[in-house]
Amino acid sequence: MFVVRWDCFSFALVFAVSFILSRAEVCNGGRTSSFVRNDQLSNDMPLDSDVFQVPPGYNAPQQVHITQGDHLGKGVIISWITQDEPGSSLVLYRAENSELKSSAEGIVLTYKYFNYTSGYIHHCTIRDLESDTKYYYEVGIGNTSRQFWFITPPEVGPDVAYTFGLVGDLGQTHDSNRTLTHYELNPAKGQTLLFVGDLSYADAYPFHDNSRWDTWGRFIERNAAYQPWIWTAGNHEIDFLPDIGEVIPFKPYVHRYHVPYKASGSTSPFWYSIKRASAYIIVMSSYSAYGKYTPQYKWLEKEFPKVNRTETPWLIVLMHCPFYSSYVHHYMEGESMRVMYEPWFVEYMVDVVFAGHVHAYERSERISNIAYNVVNGLCTPIRDPSAPVYITIGDGGNLEGLVTEMTEPQPSYSAYREASFGHGILDIKNRTHAHFSWHRNQDGYAVEADSLLLHNRYWTVSEESAVAGM
Ligand SMILES: [Fe+2]
Repeated sequence: MFVVRWDCFSFALVFAVSFILSRAEVCNGGRTSSFVRNDQLSNDMPLDSDVFQVPPGYNAPQQVHITQGDHLGKGVIISWITQDEPGSSLVLYRAENSELKSSAEGIVLTYKYFNYTSGYIHHCTIRDLESDTKYYYEVGIGNTSRQFWFITPPEVGPDVAYTFGLVGDLGQTHDSNRTLTHYELNPAKGQTLLFVGDLSYADAYPFHDNSRWDTWGRFIERNAAYQPWIWTAGNHEIDFLPDIGEVIPFKPYVHRYHVPYKASGSTSPFWYSIKRASAYIIVMSSYSAYGKYTPQYKWLEKEFPKVNRTETPWLIVLMHCPFYSSYVHHYMEGESMRVMYEPWFVEYMVDVVFAGHVHAYERSERISNIAYNVVNGLCTPIRDPSAPVYITIGDGGNLEGLVTEMTEPQPSYSAYREASFGHGILDIKNRTHAHFSWHRNQDGYAVEADSLLLHNRYWTVSEESAVAGM
């Protein structure tokens, strides 16, 4: 009698352990953070906040920001706005170790949006810079001039270490300010910021009050004037408001934020690519036509095969709307684009895809869902070592607040999710390894809450595992 009961118990135990192990294989790592933050809506910082102050002096350049100005990282686009008169579009610049000043002439433009007229928006591209060199530059020549600096990236190459920051959906609230401050103070020292869309949230104001584009430009200047921000367009950049006659999508965004799209053979500023250090970064547009035969599709069709992983091992894609998210808000909004492009992500072994839009953080397993053909029923994500990790980082801290409602149970494709504000750091070490970390804003402090040692998809085949999490 005793023997029989023990056998049954043993059997049950073995069965239970086997079941747990088999589940662990399928759902390995899927975790919803227990950290719960105050989810009160964060207000925009008041107009008289110090971060919005107009720099002193007649016609002083304001909203100074830079981005990459060519395909290789030897050029920089410098942009700024003057309010009183057009003034000069000239940029004077010199390398740190040289007294010789060079100059470049930019362009100036303005736009109107309903009852708003912009200041004079200057864009100047400086080219053929030395690699890995600190440059000082000066704008506002002839009136009040201001000086800033940036450091060019090392020459493109497979083992060049480089550190990117990741921010999305930033806005201009007190939480936005915390996120930017934490990024600036991060000891990992991001050298270039990858911005995954939704910039100012000016469209939250009556008639999309474009003066909130100006306050946002002044807010980010303290970082964006000194390191390039690589831009992705989000839905809050569309500014489509036919009721007041504003029918040109993205009008404020394209006037204010220039990108080097022509250098990658693109015909639109909404999709383009750059090489930087050991990374090849492809920016896609969730809010431009992307179906087969569209300009974006045709460009991407030629673009992916161009990536030479022996030159730039790290293939990174930026977009605004995520393909994989398990939050309730915006659930499946990226699905039609996923159906279009996920097969290429797997074929060309994209390392990581960063998106925003969902105001929270989430990291996926390496999974794909590309076998479905309408009739075969194969429509569940599966483990796929050729697939990217998808990271949603739309948690910059804008006035819409966090999304906290998650689909339950946590799907197996979701490795880690947490509804907090924060920023990311992608620290590329060499051709095989990069460290990604996500830093939550917690009680005013930045806390590393999730991280992963990424193994390059082209140069390594081993699976990675999360190395931290709290
Ligand atoms: Fe969005």
